[in-house]
Amino acid sequence: MTDHIQARDKTIKKWIHDIGQVIIKEKDSYLEVEQKTAANDLVTNMDKWVEKELVERIRTAYSKDRILGEEGFGDSVKNMEGTVWLLDPIDGTLNFVLQNENFALMLAIYEEGIPVQSYIYNVTTNELYAAIKDGGVTCNGQPVEIPANRCLNEGLLATNSSIMTKDKYDGIRKIARKSLGLRLVGSAGLETIEVAKGSIVAYIATNLKPWDIAPGILFMKELGLKATQFDNEPVDLMKNNNIIFAVPKAHKEIMDLIHE
Ligand code: IPD
Ligand code: CA
Ligand code: CA
Ligand code: CA
Repeated sequence: MTDHIQARDKTIKKWIHDIGQVIIKEKDSYLEVEQKTAANDLVTNMDKWVEKELVERIRTAYSKDRILGEEGFGDSVKNMEGTVWLLDPIDGTLNFVLQNENFALMLAIYEEGIPVQSYIYNVTTNELYAAIKDGGVTCNGQPVEIPANRCLNEGLLATNSSIMTKDKYDGIRKIARKSLGLRLVGSAGLETIEVAKGSIVAYIATNLKPWDIAPGILFMKELGLKATQFDNEPVDLMKNNNIIFAVPKAHKEIMDLIHE
């Protein structure tokens, strides 16, 4: 790990823990909830506060870097040149509002398009997953082992509700039928972690945004797992995208099923 990544890793972990403590302290208080594009597309004062807080800290400590954040407090980022931070202040806002758990704070850093650091923080369980380029994956500082390379019929599959409700991607049924069962957590970040831990063999999702996908790419890479678009190409982060994060055997089966 280079010195600048090591120093930045320490700084980011402190920021995430500071901000996480505020979320925990405030999460049961009154929430201002607004609709964005639909009744199930929400933003709260907490999503906005977390993003603003991160943007302010990044701008102070790393003023040359660019920031792409879901709630719009960063920059207008149209390419991955230079150092780009991708922020999802609360991934799983519907869960945050309706369940008070099952949400994550996510952050990823890319240097000239290459993922170098990724963080997914499960706030209510206080588990901070980090992936560092060539440094592996850890959870609260402890190494995460490479998960078993299993087939669909040996594991669980996760997906997102966009596939079931909006995109009507019928292929999901035949893929799901090959697996032992289908799961929907409602947080792309937490589902990414499930793949990394080996508790599901694949996460297949449509219409994800750059900040939903960005951290997962390095998690998959560091563990020798797959992160691709449905056409098996590397994930283009500059558009809403359909992706598969999976162990290699399940990924190959999903590819064969999508393209048969
Ligand atoms: C959403 C969650 C959800 C996924 C959606 C995302 P948000 O993120 O990750 O699981 O299905 O596509 O937009 O809006 O709660 O940060
Ligand atoms: Ca959102
Ligand atoms: Ca998200
Ligand atoms: Ca979000």
